[in-house]
Amino acid sequence: MTTWLLTGGAGYIGAHVARDLLASGRQVVVLDDLSAGHRDRVPADAAFVEASVLDTDAVRAALTSYDVTGVIHLAAKKAVGESVEKPLLYFRENVGGMTSLLQAMADAGTRCLVYSSSAAVYGEPPWSPISEDTPCAPLSPYGQTKLIGEWMVRDEAAARPLSWVALRYFNVAGAGSPELGDTSANNLIPMVFDALDRGEAPQVFGSDYPTADGSCVRDYIHVSDLSEAHVAAAALAESGDVAAIFNVGTGTGASVWEVMASVSDVVGRDIGAVAVERRAGDPPELVASVDRISGELGWAASRDLRDMVASAWAARG
Ligand code: WQD
Repeated sequence: MTTWLLTGGAGYIGAHVARDLLASGRQVVVLDDLSAGHRDRVPADAAFVEASVLDTDAVRAALTSYDVTGVIHLAAKKAVGESVEKPLLYFRENVGGMTSLLQAMADAGTRCLVYSSSAAVYGEPPWSPISEDTPCAPLSPYGQTKLIGEWMVRDEAAARPLSWVALRYFNVAGAGSPELGDTSANNLIPMVFDALDRGEAPQVFGSDYPTADGSCVRDYIHVSDLSEAHVAAAALAESGDVAAIFNVGTGTGASVWEVMASVSDVVGRDIGAVAVERRAGDPPELVASVDRISGELGWAASRDLRDMVASAWAARG
């Protein structure tokens, strides 16, 4: 029986991962400062520590007292636009948080780590689909903090025993159950729902991109599929001296217009989306190559865009 500590485990993704880790027979400790997470999303069978990952003493104490095998590090600031306006906040929270966590893990002798990285590390890649060997050139302070986190983990593992897996999330959507929806509202599907709630037309940020229908293409991944990838990554990290980076996506792109059509299908009426000017910083296409994760982790997504939209619609606040 192994025990995993989830930083940010009371958040949208963390709440799903906590449940799937428990279902896999592992024990779970959630460490979260509740700045964005929700206490009522922590499963009853999980231990809870209210603390910031920046509090090294608190993290070290939790690792030691619960005899933690590994950490799934989810706690981070993740709004690209905010990171441009407040870079120091992002470097303090995301890079400072990783520094604090790795120090606490070294002190406690915790050997395994699964790290929540992001497709944002690629920036605007020269080709699509994107393999993990693609040169990383993040465009935002957020993406830079995610890439720096990977470098920190790699360097720490060269200095002490650390078995690690970094997961580069693509576009996460959907909900495993109605009470676990994405409350951040910083992403396409929650923003479309918010527009509908206000009685406004959802907006397509640019319809003149070099894509099939002119709107941006992304690789949307159901949060339940993403969560299952974390359990597989934890098992891999437990298995030995691992150092691995995996894209987590479906390998298939969907355009903004296609997402809008799926929302219309789910809500049962034409939502009347309208094209407006482009949003700065949006690459035309970001689709994952998933060859490595399927070959080395034996994981593949099983849920499609309609599953994501329908489950998100059922979970909206
Ligand atoms: C998706 C597409 C928009 C809203 C996100 C996160 C980032 C990272 C990767 C975690 C874009 C378009 C959006 C709207 C629109 N995730 N759009 N109308 O920008 O791909 O990045 O995933 O690490 O943190 O931000 O996601 O959901 O913001 O946008 O047309 O009302 O939808 O232009 O093409 P993005 P997004």
